[in-house]
Amino acid sequence: MWRNTTQHWGNISIVLHWLSALAVIGMFASGWWMTTLTYYDGWYHRAPWWHKSFGITLLIVTGLRVLWRIGSATPLAHGHTHEKRAALAGHLLLYLLLFAVMASGYLISTAEGKGIEVFGWFSVPALFTSFNDQATIAGAAHWYCAWALIVLAAGHALFALKHHYLDRTNTLTRMLGVKARP
Ligand code: HEM
Ligand code: HEM
Repeated sequence: MWRNTTQHWGNISIVLHWLSALAVIGMFASGWWMTTLTYYDGWYHRAPWWHKSFGITLLIVTGLRVLWRIGSATPLAHGHTHEKRAALAGHLLLYLLLFAVMASGYLISTAEGKGIEVFGWFSVPALFTSFNDQATIAGAAHWYCAWALIVLAAGHALFALKHHYLDRTNTLTRMLGVKARP
């Protein structure tokens, strides 16, 4: 029920997957919206505060998600060997881009040596403030990696729908926790 098996995703992986998907879309939208705010807008300081608080939370959750993933069984992939390899590579790249976006976000926010306030509950210290133009370089990486993540996630969602409607496998239903198809 909670744990993954070689046939089904457990509830922990399912909840973490869908919460993360929602968070990534929300983070992308909020980040983009932030670029349209002017200094005199009431949200000019508040929006980044929320973006960073949710971002650090997502970073912690994704770290735990990866540990849970490494430490448990996973449902066997369907299809030919090359399809299984492509799916694995795609999923690895999704994780890699997630960490690249969050790490670059951390580097932008801490470039001036100040820590990041997370919902006013605790603060994450600035550990790396060493390279010139850190905020600019990390800002560019953040933007391009966020775009790459969203495009890859959209392709990933299309493949999930293809497996459901065309290949008629249980790839999508098992990530939804439905045990309908064999
Ligand atoms: C999956 C997670 C994330 C996504 C999809 C995301 C997306 C974005 C996007 C699209 C922008 C606007 C474009 C830009 O200026 O680069 C942005 C800006 C920003 N993000 Fe994120 N972000 C994420 C996580 C984080 C995290 C974890 C932090 C820091 C703790 C962070 C800090 C920032 C900051 C400070 C900006 C403003 C950058 C600037 O003014 O140059 N983001 N984010
Ligand atoms: C920003 C959005 C998303 C991100 C970052 C994301 C990320 C991931 C990652 C990293 C995995 C691999 C899980 C693992 O093996 O540990 C995965 C699996 C999966 N995702 Fe997503 N996902 C997103 C949105 C979606 C959407 C919208 C759908 C469906 C329409 C979807 C359907 C699936 C399915 C069915 C699996 C399981 C694949 C399998 O059993 O081999 N995902 N997702």
